[in-house]
Amino acid sequence: MITEIDEEGLKMEHKGTKELQTERLILRPWRESDAEEAFANWMNDPDVTKYLTWMPHGDISLTRALLKAREEECKRPDCYHWAIVLKNGNILIGDIEAGNVDEYQETGGLGYCMGKAWWGEGIMTEALTEVLRYCFEEVGFYRISGSHAAENIGSSRVMEKCGLKYEGTRRKAYRLLLTGERVDIVERGILKEDYFRNKLL
Ligand SMILES: CC(C)(COP(=O)(O)OP(=O)(O)OC[C@H]1O[C@@H](n2cnc3c(N)ncnc32)[C@H](O)[C@@H]1OP(=O)(O)O)[C@@H](O)C(=O)NCCC(=O)NCCS
Repeated sequence: MITEIDEEGLKMEHKGTKELQTERLILRPWRESDAEEAFANWMNDPDVTKYLTWMPHGDISLTRALLKAREEECKRPDCYHWAIVLKNGNILIGDIEAGNVDEYQETGGLGYCMGKAWWGEGIMTEALTEVLRYCFEEVGFYRISGSHAAENIGSSRVMEKCGLKYEGTRRKAYRLLLTGERVDIVERGILKEDYFRNKLL
């Protein structure tokens, strides 16, 4: 019966973009006043946006408009979108979200990116580990999905290390905005039961 399905399905309790901390990072809601740092550190860098669904901003007014809207979004209880700040120096270095939240399915989809100067130091793995902990242990998501260009090895490794299982490859499913090249897209996901099983290991 539909009521039983509803009762079984609607277990997620929204808590929104709460401030989180890890050893090296503060994950906090976005502010419009982040525009200067975000633009300087990654939002205008074609190496960062190479595999993303948006272009380098080109003009900081675009960053300001985006972050003004994002600051409002971050106030919604069903928004999970953090600015990544390095504790050391209080520097804004990146972005991570569990977006496309579906209330009934209890699912969300990952997005993340970070300034080049901080790549390869385990930072996104550290941020995603905490975001998954929050989503599964505090909010009650059932599934978190992620996808990346097959050739984006860094993103592939981050997801793999955080427990997102390989679920398939969509051939030439995305055309890179900057070059027009068509790339294969890898789909991954982690379920609540995977998360808690991994935690016990
Ligand atoms: C993808 C990205 C988030 C990775 O963040 P990061 O903090 O550099 O990743 P980590 O340091 O946590 O690395 C995790 C693993 O990936 C490896 N890795 C990271 N970047 C790599 C690269 N370019 N090539 C090969 N391996 C890479 C690391 O060595 C590490 O593996 P290991 O623990 O086995 O040594 C970052 O490169 C980025 O912001 N890229 C641009 C935006 C983007 O592509 N976002 C993802 C879209 S799906």
